Amino acid sequence: MKKILVTTGGGDCPGLNAVIRGIVKAAKNNGDEYEVWGSIEAFNGVLNEPQRIVRLDEEAVGGIHVKGGTIIRTTNKGNPVDFPTQLADGTWTTVDRSKELIDKIHALGFDAVINIGGDGSQKISQTLFENGLNVIGVPKTIDNDLSATDYTFGFNTAVQITTDSFDKLVTTAESHNRIMIMEVMGRDAGWIALHTAIAGGAEICLIPEIPYNFCDIVERIKSRYEGDTGFVNIVIAEGAKPVDGSVVGEAAKDAGDAHVKLGGIGNVLRAQLENSGIEAQIRTTILGHTQRGGTPIAFDRILASAMGTKAFELVQNKEFGRMVAFKNNDMISVTLTEATEVYNTVSLDHYLIKTARDLGIALGDEGAVC
Ligand code: F6P
Repeated sequence: MKKILVTTGGGDCPGLNAVIRGIVKAAKNNGDEYEVWGSIEAFNGVLNEPQRIVRLDEEAVGGIHVKGGTIIRTTNKGNPVDFPTQLADGTWTTVDRSKELIDKIHALGFDAVINIGGDGSQKISQTLFENGLNVIGVPKTIDNDLSATDYTFGFNTAVQITTDSFDKLVTTAESHNRIMIMEVMGRDAGWIALHTAIAGGAEICLIPEIPYNFCDIVERIKSRYEGDTGFVNIVIAEGAKPVDGSVVGEAAKDAGDAHVKLGGIGNVLRAQLENSGIEAQIRTTILGHTQRGGTPIAFDRILASAMGTKAFELVQNKEFGRMVAFKNNDMISVTLTEATEVYNTVSLDHYLIKTARDLGIALGDEGAVC
């Protein structure tokens, strides 16, 4: 019997469980010569003592494709290359435990690892592969910022959640003649904001890729009011920033967690607008982690299931060092190096940027002077 270890790392994402179920079902239905196991909280289940590794059989994964989160848990503090470690004086540092991890995985008798995670996790996959581990990557992130795949599962669920929220804010904006600012996730890539703005019918959409000119926002707001009557709905990505400003957030507090915690640009914009003499009432809604929770929509369940079964196929064919990818309506694979070399941000010549402009959505680069 051969053994596969599955891990989920980084932020959670609707569809993770459907991938896990896809791997287990494919293993069962293709000869039954593989056992699938899960490491609890990414690689921490292997590295920490006592180890936490669970058997994933058909019973364990029954019906989980409809469930959000991940049944094997996740962490953003489990990078084996930069592993958080407490020193004798109580302070924290990070150490490289990747070799130790590979030895432990081999000692446990695993033939292959399927690492489900975003850009950071797939860079870890590449390092482990270079050091002798048989790894397959499966791309995960609600941000859709991995260029090797047209879509990551979870992204379209996030867009459905943000669009549902946006629709609710439109009716209350209209009733009160208000300006509603809705802040969505998207650290470096504005895909969630752009899709939501188009799906919902926003007047203004601000994304990290286009530092915004404040006067463009004021102009667009003015164009929507006749006297006191009118309303405006703005979508802003958490990673957006003004032309002459910077992103809003705070440094991560935990050792091993590399990311700045973004959030609050919607409130900064509200204050700026209030100070600019705009008379309409302004409210900000920050959707935060609601965008990552709950049931995946059907599209993401299908995408995640197909990615899981494809990952098993790659293991079976011993095509290690590769990541599953959904390209041109087909399930393919690319090398982990290709998978992580280009970050998928919104390019200004993307067709949805043109769509947004044609729909009259201000993107903050119209060049107004005030
Ligand atoms: O990468 C996915 C993501 O949801 C980003 O959009 C967001 O900036 C980040 O994760 C939040 O991370 P955390 O859950 O650690 O606060």
